[in-house]
Amino acid sequence: MCAQVDAEIEEVPGDATTGEDDAVPVGVKLGSTRTVVALPTEDGSAIKTIRTLTCLASYEDPLTGEEKYLYGEEAATEYPDRVQFMLRSGLPEDADRAELTEQFFGAVIESHDIPEDSAVVYAIPTIDNPAGLENLQNVIENSPIGDELIESYPESLCGAIPAFGDGLEAIEEIFIAVNMGSTNLEASAYRRGEQLSPTTTGAITGNEVDRIIANYVEEETQGRVNIDITTAREYKEEHADFDNFEPFTDVIQQPGGGSHEFTIERSVMDAVDEYLDDVVEEFANSFLSQLASDNMKVYQLALDRPIVLTGGMACIPGIVEEFESRVEQALGRDVEAVTADRPDLAATIGAQRIAARLA
Ligand SMILES: Nc1ncnc2c1ncn2[C@@H]1O[C@H](COP(=O)(O)OP(=O)(O)OP(=O)(O)O)[C@@H](O)[C@H]1O
Ligand SMILES: [Mg+2]
Repeated sequence: MCAQVDAEIEEVPGDATTGEDDAVPVGVKLGSTRTVVALPTEDGSAIKTIRTLTCLASYEDPLTGEEKYLYGEEAATEYPDRVQFMLRSGLPEDADRAELTEQFFGAVIESHDIPEDSAVVYAIPTIDNPAGLENLQNVIENSPIGDELIESYPESLCGAIPAFGDGLEAIEEIFIAVNMGSTNLEASAYRRGEQLSPTTTGAITGNEVDRIIANYVEEETQGRVNIDITTAREYKEEHADFDNFEPFTDVIQQPGGGSHEFTIERSVMDAVDEYLDDVVEEFANSFLSQLASDNMKVYQLALDRPIVLTGGMACIPGIVEEFESRVEQALGRDVEAVTADRPDLAATIGAQRIAARLA
């Protein structure tokens, strides 16, 4: 019996009726920050998503001396000093981390009754790291689910699917997707599902934003407040907003007793503002020039269609409109940017739709 993995469960609209004997179509994203699984609800009237932090912490059982594990939010909150994010760089870097990922994923599957008789599609990051991708492939193949079918599709393609409609319209289109994740920024063009000119950088990332927020908070409070990167991430996820940012206050306990209240006015928005400038510059200068030189026609066609923003950083309110106007300024032409309703869940939901079609 393994530890329960607590997770946020949500239902999103989607027609998911399958026949009695059909394998259950499941979408999975093993992300560096969060793992998301999507599958039909019992009655098939909607899609259920299960979302948890991709992390674990071990501790020793005081009675038996046995090594035990906690997963997800529980591990991150109770053991901030020891918690391990196995996919810190986006993929399992070595055999040890692959094994821990397998163990974590097994616990998620068991805790949430993901059926073994399933057709599973994985949303996979586009990263030029063959060893890491092979480790991820092993995790996938060794997992107990996917008896019927196991397939992988690029994360940014999967994430664009819910942005285009209720079905798999994206697979018929020519468009550009920009995936704004925690460890990587990726841009690709898609032509009827074929990935063209993928560009990835590990320099412009959600994790880097968190580190910068932590530094800026120290500066903004004249060195009185030091926050860890988990707190910085929470500030970003709760408060970053290009439309309506509101300064917010927080309290820290002082080492000698007492507490210190402080207000954050600039740290969060300065960091995400710089991030977005970097995203636009990378997109306009590196990715688009590569695409134009690889395939001028696709470049022209794609810029006349909506650019799809995917990944968790696309959840920041107003970021889509802000991206659009900064790209317009950089290129000197009109463009349109769009996103799915829930960019953080979109890749998994898209993968689930592909699984339903393939099953
Ligand atoms: N509501 C939100 N507001 C702001 N940022 C968010 C929100 N939700 C998630 N994020 C940020 O998005 C990032 C995670 O995005 P995503 O889940 O797409 O990454 P990932 O797939 O785990 O990472 P990668 O593909 O880069 O390895 C994190 O930096 C997270 O803090
Ligand atoms: Mg990702």
